[in-house]
Amino acid sequence: MSEPEENPVAELTSRQARAEHKRLAEAVEAADIAYHQNDAPEMDDAAYDALRRRLVAIEAAFPALKASSVSAKVGAKASGKFARIRHRVPMLSLDNAFTDEAVAEFVQRVHRFLGRKDDEPIAFTAEPKIDGLSLSLRYENGALVHAATRGDGEEGEDVTVNARTIAEIPQTLAGPDVPTVAEVRGEVYLGHADFAGINERQREKGLPEFANPRNAAAGSLRQLDATITASRPLRFFAYAWGEMPELPAPTQWGVVEAFARWGFRTNPLMKRCESVEALIAHYRLIESQRATLGYDIDGVVYKVDELSLQARLGFVSRAPRWAIAHKFPAELATTVLEAIEIQVGRTGALSPVARLRPVTVGGVVVTNATLHNEDYIRGYDSKGERIRDGEPPDIRVGDTVTVKRAGDVIPRVAAVDLSKRPADAKPYEFPTICPACGSHATREINPRSGKEDAVRRCTGGLICPAQAVERLKHFVSRDALDIDGLGDKQIEFFHGDPDLPVKEPADIFTLAARDGANLKKLKDKEGFGAQSVAKLFAAIEDRRTPPLNRFIFGLGIRHIGETNARLLARHYGSFEALRAAGLAAADPASSERQELDAIDGVGPTVVEALTDFFGEPHNEELLDRLLAQVTPQPLEAVASASPVAGKIVVFTGALERMTRDEAKAMAERLGAKVAGSVSSKTDLLVAGPGAGSKLKDAQKHGVQVIDEAGWFDLVGG
Ligand code: IVH
Repeated sequence: MSEPEENPVAELTSRQARAEHKRLAEAVEAADIAYHQNDAPEMDDAAYDALRRRLVAIEAAFPALKASSVSAKVGAKASGKFARIRHRVPMLSLDNAFTDEAVAEFVQRVHRFLGRKDDEPIAFTAEPKIDGLSLSLRYENGALVHAATRGDGEEGEDVTVNARTIAEIPQTLAGPDVPTVAEVRGEVYLGHADFAGINERQREKGLPEFANPRNAAAGSLRQLDATITASRPLRFFAYAWGEMPELPAPTQWGVVEAFARWGFRTNPLMKRCESVEALIAHYRLIESQRATLGYDIDGVVYKVDELSLQARLGFVSRAPRWAIAHKFPAELATTVLEAIEIQVGRTGALSPVARLRPVTVGGVVVTNATLHNEDYIRGYDSKGERIRDGEPPDIRVGDTVTVKRAGDVIPRVAAVDLSKRPADAKPYEFPTICPACGSHATREINPRSGKEDAVRRCTGGLICPAQAVERLKHFVSRDALDIDGLGDKQIEFFHGDPDLPVKEPADIFTLAARDGANLKKLKDKEGFGAQSVAKLFAAIEDRRTPPLNRFIFGLGIRHIGETNARLLARHYGSFEALRAAGLAAADPASSERQELDAIDGVGPTVVEALTDFFGEPHNEELLDRLLAQVTPQPLEAVASASPVAGKIVVFTGALERMTRDEAKAMAERLGAKVAGSVSSKTDLLVAGPGAGSKLKDAQKHGVQVIDEAGWFDLVGG
């Protein structure tokens, strides 16, 4: 009789599967007990991992077996899509530097923030930036319990079952210094040879090929069928961590060394450097090895080595102050510009898009590239200066052009080869009429600078279908309301649907009621069945209480991106409060305007965008209708237990124990809002020696004043 393990899972009968599953589950459980409770492992890690992978593969093929399984204990979900996992410590992104000067500035910023002189060395690590996708692995008592993708940084997808099939991800961690809770983070990626192999198999099966190893890695990890993940040779480098209350070392270097002891692969090109010159030298070394590494990297990451300094430096928005990614320069290719098309965005901006003869740039086939705006096509920047050589410097259909692509950024047309310009090529005439609605498209004059805006915008507002559709797409998109099953295609369908039109956000939430209990209108339409309609309606219901920051972001107010939306959500706490402030702040003399102006990070452009948005009657009505359907939820307070949570704090004068930046960061970590000036809304002024007008303002408004020592007494530092 052949060994059941040797049969491909797909060929097992359900009886065989049940029998083998039972045997494997018992073996895994026994091994777990031997390892964790008796401290006496009975098998080596490789054998254990092989058992678990087989178990998971069988469960993926026979989901009914999952309920009773040992793998169910660790939260493997059988649902049709991935469950969400909230990261206990957010997964951050990195700021980028593209030049040696920008790296020097980063190092200088770190020195300044910490109040160190330029000649007092600070150690950094330098390591390759792997071009894959990040994954957070949670181990409890040494056993892998969860694997989550980055998602939006706050919440990712539960890919535990899939991660268990990756050989380079240990199922258990070995070593005396493995903490009880250890969230190890790193990059899942595919090597070049394995990527080529996967695409070859895709070709053989008549399936679409992946554009690059990163897409292939993401596609392989985010598979509902874990057997597919198991069949792809995904790899993993560990380089960071999330929750880890007992750290194995006081430095970045030391923790990564511990990862290697615990059974992870860590990157051999990581190096400790003590000067900008040393960092740049290591960057050059890594760059010179790039082509022969066998996997994609897109830069070098520098991190402050001392963890105590990392903690002091903290974060800005979604990136740490203590790290930066030094990216490799953009990649170039030459091709022919076949056409210029105009897209109308949600703010009415007319964006020229270059349609190109397909060309490979850095391993990715590019057919579209941005041409930014009409001045860019003419060959000038916003100051009226020429941006490319050549006479004339413009870009014309038929031109041979250079396409530039750097990392994830949309490729752009950078240069023109005039020697190849066809004799009949004509200058491009940028439309002055919106191609979507026929309204005039104009370039606004900025009231402050008196300069013409670079962007030409449709004046059609809500009557312009392109704007309405793009706004709706934005509203339901991943970083906004994130409604599953409602993507670009579905929004376009509903927008134009005569039976169940969706013209504005509120209409999404009345879809189910309008369709009636029997789903009579939707279910027979193309692409919908009773089940998919029910699923869609459930996903919509699920989003009636969106987090406030996502809701604000989803409204698509100009200049309110994710960071500003979060800032406003934190500051105002409820949508009603923001709305009232946005309306009242139209009066420049109002206290609401002062409060808005004083929020750190909110500049005049944002204030103007908000007052414009809330002052527009159309928007008022649209919001009333939308708020009858949804109830945004306030953000979870940051450190709500702290004595300064929710308070508005201003720092002034000289501080001794911390730099001003550090003070601000600390207050924000404790849930306070730091303002740049004192108003009647200020709760607390922390004044050091030499405080001047702010101290007087505080006295005038009756604001509590304390000194630096008083601050540390208050927050317990
Ligand atoms: S550190 C808090 N190190 O780059 C800092 N990230 O652009 C966390 N990445 O989301 C990241 N290689 O997916 C770090 N050696 C490395 C990396 C790396 C690749 C990715 C990671 C992150 C993204 C940020």
